[in-house]
Amino acid sequence: MFSAIKYKSGCLELIDQRLLPLEKKWVTCSDLESVAIAIEDMVVRGAPAIACVAAYGLAMDAFLSNTTNWEDYRSDFIKNCERLKKTRPTAVNLFNLISDAKNFLDSFEDKIPMSKVKTDLEKWADGFFDNDLETCRAIGEVGLSIAGEKKISILTHCNAGSLATAGYGTALGVIRSLHAVGQLNYVFVDETRPYMQGTRLTAFELIEEGIPFSLQVDSAAASTLASGHVDWVVVGADRIASNGDTANKIGTYALAILAKYHGVAFYVAAPVSTFDFNARTGEDIPIEQRPAEELTSFGGHPIAAPGTEVINPSFDVTPAELITGIITEEGVIRAPYPDHIATLME
Ligand code: MRU
Repeated sequence: MFSAIKYKSGCLELIDQRLLPLEKKWVTCSDLESVAIAIEDMVVRGAPAIACVAAYGLAMDAFLSNTTNWEDYRSDFIKNCERLKKTRPTAVNLFNLISDAKNFLDSFEDKIPMSKVKTDLEKWADGFFDNDLETCRAIGEVGLSIAGEKKISILTHCNAGSLATAGYGTALGVIRSLHAVGQLNYVFVDETRPYMQGTRLTAFELIEEGIPFSLQVDSAAASTLASGHVDWVVVGADRIASNGDTANKIGTYALAILAKYHGVAFYVAAPVSTFDFNARTGEDIPIEQRPAEELTSFGGHPIAAPGTEVINPSFDVTPAELITGIITEEGVIRAPYPDHIATLME
């Protein structure tokens, strides 16, 4: 298991996830704008990883600043937060991170020297990263606790692994934890059209870990579920509303319907930082539209007739009623979701 994010003293490096698994190339971000572009262009992706990179981006910009005190730097900091908020709209971890950062810095006196702001922001970003890693491990343990003595076969979609988090992963964290104790039977990985996170990233992580799996086209999920070879579908999440409706990679909703039809448990694995307590239902979740070229070309080569109209929503919303449970670091949340999520918020 490796992390896709490295930060030290004003230097932020990201593994370029667009090139994996063929090339392991690290990209250096040298200012806040390059961090924002790395998020927009999917050098880094996955809800918790985006938030970790945003935290380091804020710390890096402060570290490199020539201003002398917080009062002079505050407007730059606010500008940076606003820029990061414009990168990708669906994963709420980014927005939760930015409001945390603002609350943290509101406690600073105007005349506090930049040297202190720099140290405190770096500590805060490191703490955020370490906490995400611990949270993912805890999600894995909670997932393991619901397996009982059984060996489990899992179908997963997209990439909710080390690459999508500080490390370990959420849905892949559950898979890793089961594998570590010999309770993982097999994994079915959806290729995840159109951006191929399953083919490029999840398959890569599973190969590295020696976890047994097969890659399948997304449309094979129905027959795989019908075969009786899957115990659980486990996916990550980008934003969970207060009633349990969950936004995740496009195709997740279809999988949840298939799982219900075939009587297979459907779990979402996500940290508490993926809940949006301000979103009442899935209707309040903004869905990112990605560029048409993701559909009209393949590997950089055009494949659709010029002029083809495209809809390319990057995420869909799975209604809470289709979800067996949400595996968080605090335990498994089950229906009735509004009550249990309200308790979580408290
Ligand atoms: O567009 P992406 O690759 O950022 O989408 C990622 C997902 O949908 C993941 O399932 C989600 O962010 C959870 S990652 C732990």
